[in-house]
Amino acid sequence: MWQKWKRLKTGEKVLFGSVALLILVTIQNYVVLEWIRMSSDKPMYPVRTHYDFAGEGFRGSELFRTNNCTSCHKAVGNGTNMGLELDGIGSRHDLAYILAFLHDPENTYGSKTVDHGPAPKEASYVAKLPEADLHAIGVFLSQLTSDRGAPTAPAPPTGKSGFIDAMLDMWAPDSWRLVFSDVRAGDAAKAGAANGQRTEDAKPGSGNGH
Ligand code: HEC
Repeated sequence: MWQKWKRLKTGEKVLFGSVALLILVTIQNYVVLEWIRMSSDKPMYPVRTHYDFAGEGFRGSELFRTNNCTSCHKAVGNGTNMGLELDGIGSRHDLAYILAFLHDPENTYGSKTVDHGPAPKEASYVAKLPEADLHAIGVFLSQLTSDRGAPTAPAPPTGKSGFIDAMLDMWAPDSWRLVFSDVRAGDAAKAGAANGQRTEDAKPGSGNGH
C-alpha cells in the first residue's frame, strides 16, 4: 500500500489525499452530529406539526398509504417531497371541507384542478373510493394540525416579527391594508388587553405608506 502510494505522481497524491480528507471530514461531522443529537434532550428541529391518530384516523392513515396518495402527497413523513404537503391541512380546513374536496374537488375549489376531478385526471379514482374509506381518510387528514408559524400553517407566528413587517411593507400593496386585516393585530390587541395597555401593532394600517 505504502509502496503504491510512493509511486504516485504529486498531482495524484494531492487528488487522492484531498478526496480521503473530504471523506474523513464527512464521517467526523456525521459522528459528531449524531452524538449531539443522541445526547441532547431537545429535538434537532422544533416539531410544529401534530397528529392524533385516534380510531378512524388511524385507519385513514393506512388507507392514505395503500391508496397511493403518497405518490403525489406527503403527510407524517410518508410520500413524495415533490407533491402537495398535507401535514397541517387540519389547521386550514375542517373535516366537512376535506370530505367535500375528496368527493367533488372542482366545485369545492371553485376552479379547475390539476389531478383531482373527473377522469381522465390522474387522481380521479380518489372520488370513487368506498364511502367509508373516504371518510376515514378525511378524518385522518383533519387530524393533521400545525402550530402557527410552521411552514404548513395558515397563519404567521404569534408575536412581533421584524422580518414579516419588512416583507409586508415591501410587497403588500396599500390597498390590501384596507381590504384585509393583519391577524397579528388581533394577537397584539389580545396581549394588550391582557396587559391593560394598547400597542402600536394593534392599529390596522400602520404601515409606512409605501
Ligand atoms: C396524481 C397525483 C395525485 C394523487 C394520486 C392524489 N392527489 Fe391529492 N392533490 C393532487 C393535486 C395536484 C392537488 C391540488 C388540487 C388539484 O389541482 O387537483 C391535490 C389536492 C388534494 C387535497 C386538497 C389540499 C388542499 O389544501 O386544498 C386533498 C385533501 C388531497 N389532495 C387528498 C388526496 C388523497 C386522500 C389522495 C389519495 C386517496 C390523493 N389526494 C391522491 C394530486 C394528487
